Amino acid sequence: MKIVKITENKKQFLDLLLLADEQENMIDRYLPQGDLFALYDDDLKSVCVVLPVNSETCELKNIATYEKYQGKGYGRALINFISEYYKHDFQTLLVGTGETPAILSFYESCGFEKSHRVKNFFTDHYDHPMFDGDIQLVDMIYLKKEL
Ligand SMILES: CC(C)(COP(=O)(O)OP(=O)(O)OC[C@H]1O[C@@H](n2cnc3c(N)ncnc32)[C@H](O)[C@@H]1OP(=O)(O)O)[C@@H](O)C(=O)NCCC(=O)NCCS
Repeated sequence: MKIVKITENKKQFLDLLLLADEQENMIDRYLPQGDLFALYDDDLKSVCVVLPVNSETCELKNIATYEKYQGKGYGRALINFISEYYKHDFQTLLVGTGETPAILSFYESCGFEKSHRVKNFFTDHYDHPMFDGDIQLVDMIYLKKEL
């Protein structure tokens, strides 16, 4: 398994990025300035994007594993990698997500704890109602991991 930082042609990973964030113009808000990491195990399995927020905090803006490779530890490996990568420069890694129990358990199992909530984020910023299965995404739930 290897994880590499991608600096050119980041949009080549759009199919994976769209799994975590289905509206392309929202991805365009963080992908150009964000650090993009790709995990390969033979071929491409997962990506994530991290963006500095201020001198103490950076934010995981996107993480996705191809559907048929989910549950095999690749997402956790990426989070472990970026936690090491940023720990000398930042104190806290933040991540925001919809109120989806499976995703919240994923982050909690990777060492995050709930931080705060931004009311109506999904209804205010996306151009159509967002669903994860039957659950409509309304508020953004932030979790944090101390690095
Ligand atoms: C969320 C996602 C990135 C996780 O990646 P992954 O490669 O499947 O994650 P891992 O296999 O490393 O899982 C790590 C742990 O998280 C938990 N977990 C992962 N997916 C889970 C799920 N769907 N339900 C419950 N727990 C889950 C498991 O406890 C797992 O621990 P284990 O090793 O004890 O089984 C992946 O499911 C995905 O791409 N989903 C679609 C995109 C998305 O929603 N991204 C997040 C946007 S906020």
